[in-house]
Amino acid sequence: AKYTWVDKDTCIACGACGGTAPDIYDFDEQGLAFVVLDENQGSAEIPEILHDDMNEAMEGCPTESILIQDEPFNR
Ligand code: F3S
Repeated sequence: AKYTWVDKDTCIACGACGGTAPDIYDFDEQGLAFVVLDENQGSAEIPEILHDDMNEAMEGCPTESILIQDEPFNR
């Protein structure tokens, strides 16, 4: 299983992730990204059909603010 979480402390609101993976990432009123599936708790298992988009978004983030791991994040 895969889980993802955005580190809003390092996100610079570049907007790339929401373009690459709009089913996973959206932006708050400040333009900072968050995971829409679980309000950025890192607790929602990401459906496999979205894994390619998720990985692409992670690779495209200029500040490496998109984290992915096999276990839920504790947020
Ligand atoms: Fe922020 Fe990176 Fe997305 S800077 S807006 S998390 S691509």
